[in-house]
Amino acid sequence: IQVATFKNEPFTNFSIEENKQSMYAALAKVKKELGEKYPIVVGKDKLFTEEQTVSINPGNVDEIVGTVSKGNQELAEKAVQEALKTFETWKKVAPAARAEYLFKAADLMRQRKHEFSSYLVYESGKNWAEADADTAEAIDFMEFYAREMIRLSETSIHQPLTKIEGEDNQISYIPLGVGIVISPFNFPLAIMAGTTVAAIVSGNTVILKPADATPVIAAKFVELMEEVGLPSGVLNFLPGDGIEVGEYLVEHPKTRFISFTGSRAVGCRIYERASKVQPGQLWLKRVIAEMGGKDGVVVDETADLDAAAAAIVASAYGFQGQKCSAGSRAIIVESVYDQVVEKVVELTRNLSIGLPEENCSIGPVIDQKSVDKIMDYIEIGKTEGRLLTGGSRAEGNGFYIEPTIFADVDSKARIMQEEIFGPVLAITKAADWKEAIEIYNDTEYGLTGAYHSKDEDRINYALENMHCGNLYINKKCTGALVGAHPFGGFNMSGTDSKAGGYDYLLLFTQAKLKSKKL
Ligand code: SER
Repeated sequence: IQVATFKNEPFTNFSIEENKQSMYAALAKVKKELGEKYPIVVGKDKLFTEEQTVSINPGNVDEIVGTVSKGNQELAEKAVQEALKTFETWKKVAPAARAEYLFKAADLMRQRKHEFSSYLVYESGKNWAEADADTAEAIDFMEFYAREMIRLSETSIHQPLTKIEGEDNQISYIPLGVGIVISPFNFPLAIMAGTTVAAIVSGNTVILKPADATPVIAAKFVELMEEVGLPSGVLNFLPGDGIEVGEYLVEHPKTRFISFTGSRAVGCRIYERASKVQPGQLWLKRVIAEMGGKDGVVVDETADLDAAAAAIVASAYGFQGQKCSAGSRAIIVESVYDQVVEKVVELTRNLSIGLPEENCSIGPVIDQKSVDKIMDYIEIGKTEGRLLTGGSRAEGNGFYIEPTIFADVDSKARIMQEEIFGPVLAITKAADWKEAIEIYNDTEYGLTGAYHSKDEDRINYALENMHCGNLYINKKCTGALVGAHPFGGFNMSGTDSKAGGYDYLLLFTQAKLKSKKL
């Protein structure tokens, strides 16, 4: 099969007037669609339940983005049965034919790019660039995993076997079964779609449980997959409570794997629950968990200090710091510490705060629970460091918090060790570059990191010794690109899976060897 080489979907340049106008038009169109009702989808059935999740705009809490039906255990059971039944036919569909659905969906999403981004703006509080990058990444995941499935099916290329005389040996990667996808609010399109299509294109059937705060964008994606003709029952949509629905599915003896992205606490709980073999269960479940981070940017005295300061700010405050990749720590060598801190503070004070649809740099955090947690950490920060800017709620009819900086924080302090998932940056001083790297490594997580320097030897040392899944040199530590920067981390950041990388689909398949005597 000949498919064009994978290329990342370009980001939109919104300083071009035409692009700006298209985005305004899309925002206006989507605004008229807000408030719709979305069903649970099990096979062909669209089910509207009495219990609903009301999704609101976190930047303007009086605006309802949509109302989504809420699953319960009875519907979860129905979804499992539907997914089990459909698996029997879906697994027999040729890999290239499965890939075709993803190519079509990518194409359609590309045509409606700004509409999808507008839903992200209204439902998750992303500014235009963050929303556009989220949509581009979703398109990338579909394009990339479709190609990956084709490559994996051409096993003579993927895994050439040693020739044995008198034998015909073939290996093939077959699907696992029914998978549960539990997706996060912070990349409510890219990660939700990426984890779902990876499982589907590998031949599995899926029950998708989206994040409570962002079910509408997920419902829009489910509609898209229906539009491209994905057979019913392959993708079942079941928003619902984490305990009632999520845990029921995780512990169900007929579910085969769980692909989870979210907090460390929930990831650990899923890992534990999934490890128990239930009566009637025929397999050991696989858990793919992408959890938190306490990522950091390290700056030594040889670095381009302006570029380093810009990278610290972009890493800390992109989408209000609500990324597992967020650079919530900055570790700066003593001799340039004051200079870099001053630059970081100045850049941070210049960030505009306000409505995502008006494309302010800093928008709201996702919900009241997040506000409470982040404000608690800010109070802790006040006892652990020197507050340089921010530290309070910001104005607006939503969940706004000022971008906040604490300096002179001890590397063992709670705000240096615990994931806050908000616009809070903790800065610490290191005696020299080696100590800075040691401080960077002093974490239970290991997702992303960045090292800023002009010294090649130090850069090489950093490349070897900074222990994280995604390490960037003289760059920010967020914004991994599908195909170029396979994404996923070590230790408490997850199960070391690499989304957007060549190994990813192996997690959703099992290899079968067929050896024939000639
Ligand atoms: N992949 C995203 C990033 O690199 C985080 O999930 O920022």
